[in-house]
Amino acid sequence: MKAAQINKYGGSEVVEINKNAPKPNLSRGHLLVEVYAAGVNPVDWKIREGYMRQMVPLQFPATLGGDFSGVVEEVGDGVSGFKKGDEVYGQASITRGGSGSFAEFVSADAKSTAHKPKSIGHVEAAALPLTGVSAWQALVEHIGISRGKKILIHGGAGGIGSIAIQIAKYLGAYVATTVSARDIPYVKELGADEAIDYKNQSFDEMLHDYDAVYDTVGGETYVKSFKVLKRGGIIVSMLEQPRSELVERYGVKAIGQFTQVTSERLSKLAELVDKRVIKVYVDRTFPLEQAGEALEYQQKGHPRGKVVLKIKT
Ligand SMILES: NC(=O)c1ccc[n+]([C@@H]2O[C@H](COP(=O)([O-])OP(=O)(O)OC[C@H]3O[C@@H](n4cnc5c(N)ncnc54)[C@H](OP(=O)(O)O)[C@@H]3O)[C@@H](O)[C@H]2O)c1
Repeated sequence: MKAAQINKYGGSEVVEINKNAPKPNLSRGHLLVEVYAAGVNPVDWKIREGYMRQMVPLQFPATLGGDFSGVVEEVGDGVSGFKKGDEVYGQASITRGGSGSFAEFVSADAKSTAHKPKSIGHVEAAALPLTGVSAWQALVEHIGISRGKKILIHGGAGGIGSIAIQIAKYLGAYVATTVSARDIPYVKELGADEAIDYKNQSFDEMLHDYDAVYDTVGGETYVKSFKVLKRGGIIVSMLEQPRSELVERYGVKAIGQFTQVTSERLSKLAELVDKRVIKVYVDRTFPLEQAGEALEYQQKGHPRGKVVLKIKT
């Protein structure tokens, strides 16, 4: 089968298309899925560059990619709830027990897979697992966002931010978000009440007494965000771990999230998609052969919404 692989860490030049990669072995608890589309996330180029080599050292050749949407080809021992021919979506990164989704077939842990939303195609479904579950886990499980609460979502035009805005609005919150100026109309269309141009405006001088901040940016943005919160508020970050001096000074709760894509969370997201609560925005698709270019575009092209590899459609 064809797969986008690396044999060493590096930039997009290390991505190779192997036309003779072996089909993944099907182990207990896993599904063999024919991949129709694979979503591209920042973590995919971070893995390629070796950011995670201390935590999860790769064995080469390594197939890139995590998010996928496709059709079940074979069901492993110990798996229930799936059969051959089911349309499914989920996460199968090599760093999380899968075989890598930038390939024609993937072995995916059934616990990180669910039936795909019925109302959208494979390209949109492949764009959803990591970003959608990140937003769900932060807003619903950590923050417990609800009617009338005020939340600041950083990076509202990004993969996670765009889903987070839609979930927060659905649950009745007031949403402010930071974006580049050109993305202000886009996030307003998603439902944001207030959009702040992060390059020319200072969100920390404009917003006060917020119940929650959802940080998908990190660094200085994370530190400044504490000023926006009221005492007793909460900040969840996708990039930063809590710092006790900030937590104590501002009297807030801080969480550094590690997203876990589970069947339960994916199924809840699928329901919201099928109820037309969440719309998935795909900025650009690439063929599998251009996986390197797709990663480059995700990293440097400022996509509005998601980048997806179209593998079989
Ligand atoms: N901890 C975990 O388990 C976990 C899971 C998933 C993702 N993540 C991380 O979460 C981050 C976001 O992921 P994503 O998929 O949403 O990425 P993405 O699609 O690339 O979106 C990032 C967004 O942030 C915006 N941005 C950049 N600098 C900003 C700033 N200073 N203020 C406000 N917005 C800014 C970008 O806008 P412009 O393009 O206009 O600059 C872009 O729209 C990534 O670093 C990813 O690796 C962590």
